[in-house]
Amino acid sequence: MTAQIIDGKALAREIEARARKRSEELAQLPGGRRPGLAVVLVGEDPASCVYVRNKTRACERAGVSSREYRLPADTNQEALLKLIGELNADPTVDGILVQLPLPGQIRASAVIEAIDPGKDVDGFHMLSAGALLVGRRDEGFRPCTPAGVMKMLESVGVNPEGLEAVVVGRSNIVGKPQALMLLEDHATVTVAHSRTPNLAEITRRADILVAAAGRARMITGDMVKPGAVVIDVGMNRDEEGKLCGDVDEKSVSEVARALSPVPGGVGPMTIAMLISNTVLAAERHLG
Ligand code: GUN
Repeated sequence: MTAQIIDGKALAREIEARARKRSEELAQLPGGRRPGLAVVLVGEDPASCVYVRNKTRACERAGVSSREYRLPADTNQEALLKLIGELNADPTVDGILVQLPLPGQIRASAVIEAIDPGKDVDGFHMLSAGALLVGRRDEGFRPCTPAGVMKMLESVGVNPEGLEAVVVGRSNIVGKPQALMLLEDHATVTVAHSRTPNLAEITRRADILVAAAGRARMITGDMVKPGAVVIDVGMNRDEEGKLCGDVDEKSVSEVARALSPVPGGVGPMTIAMLISNTVLAAERHLG
């Protein structure tokens, strides 16, 4: 078997095109305006700079007005919280995104909880996390990466109901919300992580395998059930400095039915879902 490659970039462009249509409609409403996103970057982490640039470009494609706030790496927590307060109070800002990771002197949780939950387009606030946990779609925002993964599954005709899903990774931004979303769609979900013994035994049960552990090419073909759908959330550099995912594409593509590539898979989808969340925030603010 040779796996179908799931084109995250093409799917992301479709989602952005729909968002653009909605942005234009919102701008036409009496008292309406285009959705607005504020992106905050502290320091100059090279990967974060690339992400922020890609987010800004996606906003342009989708008719979302974006503003970037670049703060020096030695910014203290108080100054960042002050900026968040100003953005919370600004009625033209629908969504606030603070790029992670933050420098060591700033507590990320303090910053995330300071964001107005109505502007939490990353879906990292406790209110968004709680809304996902209890299945309230009318409150909070779904975190972008796992929400994008659900769209990718849908795009290859996978309905999780009754399937075995294995999520490798338990972070607050991917693993945990991913498990909840798959559970909400009636999959039987297992969460594995760095301290799981016999990982291969567990991953081999998966009809849906989501790799989000952050270890280069750790999922190899022998760990995958024939015909499984494999989504690679990893974004790593190998020993040669080459960008790669958590999945060993070569061996896994011989076993899986469908596989998302790195780059061009989950990355663009995360950004497309951020745009969707920003449009949703604007709809709530204008509605
Ligand atoms: N750093 C890595 N992924 C993300 C993300 O989805 N949002 C933010 N704000 N920072 C990140």
